[in-house]
Amino acid sequence: MRIDSLRLQLLAWVVLPLAGLAAINLWTSHGSAQATADLVTDRMLLGSARTIAEQVAMVDGVLDATVPPAALEMFDTGDRDSVYYHVKTAGGRLLTGYPDLPEASRPSSTEAAYRDHWLRLLTLSHAVVGAGNESPIIVTVGVTLAGHDAMVRRLWFGAFAQQLALVVIAGLFVLLGLSRGLAPLIRLRDAVRSPGRNDLDPVEVAGAQSEIRPLIDALNAYMERVRAQMAAQRRFIANAAHQLRTPLALLSTQASYALRESVPDARQEALVALQASSGRLARLAEQLLTLSRAEPGSRRPRADRIDLTEAARHVLETQAPTAVSRDIDLGLEETGPVSVIGDGTMLREMIVNLVDNALRYTPAGGSVTVKLAASDGNAVLTVTDDGPGIPEEERDHVFERFYRIADTTEEGSGLGLAIVREVAENAGGRVTLENGAAAGLVVEVRLPLADR
Ligand SMILES: Nc1ncnc2c1ncn2[C@@H]1O[C@H](COP(=O)(O)OP(=O)(O)OP(=O)(O)O)[C@@H](O)[C@H]1O
Ligand SMILES: [Mg+2]
Repeated sequence: MRIDSLRLQLLAWVVLPLAGLAAINLWTSHGSAQATADLVTDRMLLGSARTIAEQVAMVDGVLDATVPPAALEMFDTGDRDSVYYHVKTAGGRLLTGYPDLPEASRPSSTEAAYRDHWLRLLTLSHAVVGAGNESPIIVTVGVTLAGHDAMVRRLWFGAFAQQLALVVIAGLFVLLGLSRGLAPLIRLRDAVRSPGRNDLDPVEVAGAQSEIRPLIDALNAYMERVRAQMAAQRRFIANAAHQLRTPLALLSTQASYALRESVPDARQEALVALQASSGRLARLAEQLLTLSRAEPGSRRPRADRIDLTEAARHVLETQAPTAVSRDIDLGLEETGPVSVIGDGTMLREMIVNLVDNALRYTPAGGSVTVKLAASDGNAVLTVTDDGPGIPEEERDHVFERFYRIADTTEEGSGLGLAIVREVAENAGGRVTLENGAAAGLVVEVRLPLADR
């Protein structure tokens, strides 16, 4: 059976063991009640037997045993006990009482059955002056157990009531303590649920205990992270919308210009410009889409085995016409397959962006080299160009979304390196920027090699 309520769980953990202890305690207290009743009954039996024995005397040369009423009345405790006795001489001659009453083993008392009752019996021997060889006399007194048992019950019931009260009081205190202890948790729940609350504001619960405080702190830290992420998303959307608006406005201007133009050549020129703008717009949309796909959690993570050399060769083939048109010497240096685990499409997009940057920012006549190697369990992809390079102080910023170096004349949206870093980090690697040997930039991407 599972108990879902914390209150019930704690109550069970406190009250059940306590009740178990109380049960053990009751059992032992039954024993001690019994012992007390035994002791009291034995004292009474001894007192009674002594009173009887002291009345036995030689009267006119004959042993006379007259039982005084006081010796029997002391058992009259309202429990309707019957008292039996006998007085015998040392030789076993009955002086008075019940001849068949069994004797107790001296000096302790005995319990024995007599006339369908259980009796507690005590036997006493007592010297009588002048009785000769009939002395000492033997006095046995027995009493039924009603008074004895009533005493056991009374003593035991007292203990029982005490234990019960203890368990009940403990249970009540547990419930009380729990309600007080759980109150901050309930307040936390209410604070989180409260409709008046601005959704990701930190919650504050006054009087929270040291065990609950970390929960509240963790919750607040989590909400803070979510809030930062939401703010980043909002910034990204605003940036993206802004980036899209400018070329769209340009596109619309160019379209109206082309429509107004009646001279075929001028019209042709306007349409060519319009085509170029829409191409740039398409590329911006493409970059935005790639970046959103590269974000963790945006699509099912793929863990394919990808040969980076093969991917680079493919990218270089598609970029060759651009290289030719810009008069750039685009080369590949490789020594065989270099396999990594990751998302093939995204890894290709990463290489596309690196090669695109190198080709775009390297002046005509330059050279761009893509190199693949394996070292220290890493696949190392380097793209080297001999263009202007990126100044030291800009190197942290160029990875930011939409960031472009201020005096860049080439077209671009500032998303390429953000995509590169996102993809590399998703595949468990990292990107670094270095100076080229003479001039230019070396971009190095290190990714963990796939196991053979
Ligand atoms: N190989 C390079 N040589 C010199 N500068 C570079 C190089 N690669 C990138 N940069 C600089 O870093 C900036 C950021 O590059 P990134 O690729 O992120 O954006 P972009 O190329 O401007 O736009 P996109 O790639 O999204 O079209 C660029 O504006 C450029 O100034
Ligand atoms: Mg770029």
